[in-house]
Parts: sequence; C-alpha cells; structure tokens
Amino acid sequence: MPLVSLIDMYKPANEQAYAIGAFNVNNMEFIQSALEAAEEKKSPIILSASTSALEYGSFFYLVDLVKTGAAKVSVPVALNLDHGASIEEAEKCINAGFTAVMIDASHEDFEENIRMTAEVVKMAKPKNICVEAELGRLGGIEDDVNVDEKDAFLTDPAQAEDFVKRSGCNALAVAVGTSHGAYKFKSEAKLAMSRIAYIKMSTGITLVLHGASGVDPEVVAKAIKYGAELPGAKGVPDEAYREAISLGVNKINIDTDLRLAWVASVREILANSPKVFDPRKILGPARDEVKKVIMNKMDIIGSAGKA
Ligand code: G3H
Ligand code: 13P
Ligand code: ZN
Repeated sequence: MPLVSLIDMYKPANEQAYAIGAFNVNNMEFIQSALEAAEEKKSPIILSASTSALEYGSFFYLVDLVKTGAAKVSVPVALNLDHGASIEEAEKCINAGFTAVMIDASHEDFEENIRMTAEVVKMAKPKNICVEAELGRLGGIEDDVNVDEKDAFLTDPAQAEDFVKRSGCNALAVAVGTSHGAYKFKSEAKLAMSRIAYIKMSTGITLVLHGASGVDPEVVAKAIKYGAELPGAKGVPDEAYREAISLGVNKINIDTDLRLAWVASVREILANSPKVFDPRKILGPARDEVKKVIMNKMDIIGSAGKA
C-alpha cells in the first residue's frame, strides 16, 4: 500500500501500548529485510533514512526503493527522516513523500530547538506528516557521573512540556540513558525509566527511544569469531523495551542490531567459503539474518500482529 502517515500509525500504538520499530535502511537489501519481516509478522513498520543514508543511497534511489517496496506489502509502512539536520533537509523530505520527519536540533539551545521544530511543523502539518523532535542529549548514565551532571543531559519533564506546547511536534525523542552504537553501557544497563513516565505525563505525546539496539551477545560473539573487533559491546535488554513501552514509548529506533547481524553473517560466509565471489551468495544470507533480527524485535515490542 502507499506510505502511511506515522501520525495515523501512532494512534493504535498509543491506545494499545505497543511500539513500532523504526529500522534504519541504507540500501535495497535492508529495505527488503524490513518489508519482508513486516509482511510476515503482520506488523506496522517505520523505515528510517538518516542524512548519511540519503547521501550514500542517493536520495531518490533510496526513496523510490522504499515506495516501490511499500506498495507491494499489505502492512502500513512509514518513511521517516532520521536525525534531520536542517529545516531545508526536512522540507526536501516532506516534498518527496516522506510520512515522518525528525528534526534534530537537540544540540542547539532550547529556544532555537523550538524555533526549528516549529518551522518544520508548519510545513508538515497541512500534509499530516509526523514531526519528531529531540530534547536532551543521548548518553549512558555512568556511575561516576554525579546527579547534577546526569540531569544536565537527560530530558527534563517540565522543559519537555513547554517544548511540546510551543513547537507543536507530534513525537519526542527522549534522553533517558541510551546512546547510539554498539557501546551503550560500561557495566550494567541503566535507563531512567521513571523519567519516561514523567515526560509522558507532562507532554501526553508519543515518546521515542533512540539508541535502542540490544547488541545481542550471540551476534557479537559470532562477529568476533570471524574477525570483528567489538570489545565491550553492550546494548539495551529486552525487558527494558517492555518497561519503556508500558510507560509511554511508542517508537523504538534500531540500527546497530541490523549492522551487527549483517556483519556477522558476511564475515562468516567470507571466512567459511573462500571460493565464493558472487555478491548474491554473500548479501542474500546477510539479508535473511537482518530480517530475523527485525522479526524478533516486532515480537518483543508488541507490533507483531497489529497490522
Ligand atoms: O541515529 C543514527 C543512526 O544509527 C544512523 O546512523 O548516520 O551512520 O546513518 P548513520
Ligand atoms: P542504535 O545505534 O542503538 O541502533 O540506535 C539507532 C537510532 O537511534 C537511530 O536513530
Ligand atoms: Zn537516533
């Protein structure tokens, strides 16, 4: 079916307390993994394209691949700009048919973050396109950081209320202890769960968990076995998704887990089959591994069977 507005996909997710996975895609194989997983799991899905994905994939190749793939499946698919860096980039995506855009001005000061987000909302609203903003700074909650320092980068519920009212955004990415990549926690995984509940209470809008990859130890071990160097890789445990969702998170962003599954598979094939030089025999099995990861996430976050 044609791409669906993420605003419309969030409604049932919010009412029924499940999350929709936003999976980063950079090329045809990852788009296929994601859409096949969604179709088989009867799950809504968000395909996310970052600024660098749109550069790498070349804007219209990637966008057209997503639209072509979405048209062939029966489940709702949203195309989302991930960490949009400027108003101009968001505008380009809005005009190209994205059904969700994130404007990430979290590195700017509070007033500038509101101004940039509100500008994007002005363009997106007439088209029913979802706008996600970010408040706070993503980063692990380490034991050697004192309470004041932690508070300085985690999302503040009162500030979030003001931000949402004045910017008009539809969804908010919150900083509650997660971070991007494969190294999220030095020791035990820690998330500021009660903060999610307070932010939900103060804003009432859809909350988004970035940096949510689980960094499966088995996948990491397989990648390492075949030559990868990933010392100390650690991610968000499955139980943390469930708790975060029960407190108000309806979008879970996953990129690293797909990359790890892909690299473990490619390394295994290259190591075990030195005579193989047909790319399809390397990329095909990796595509299947990425698909398995996505299907598993859909079960955990409760979106399976919701389409
Ligand atoms: O949030 C960041 C995503 O993992 C995208 O990463 O900018 O390397 O495409 P990227
Ligand atoms: P991970 O690096 O944990 O997969 O996070 C991805 C993300 O937040 C994309 O916006
Ligand atoms: Zn992110």
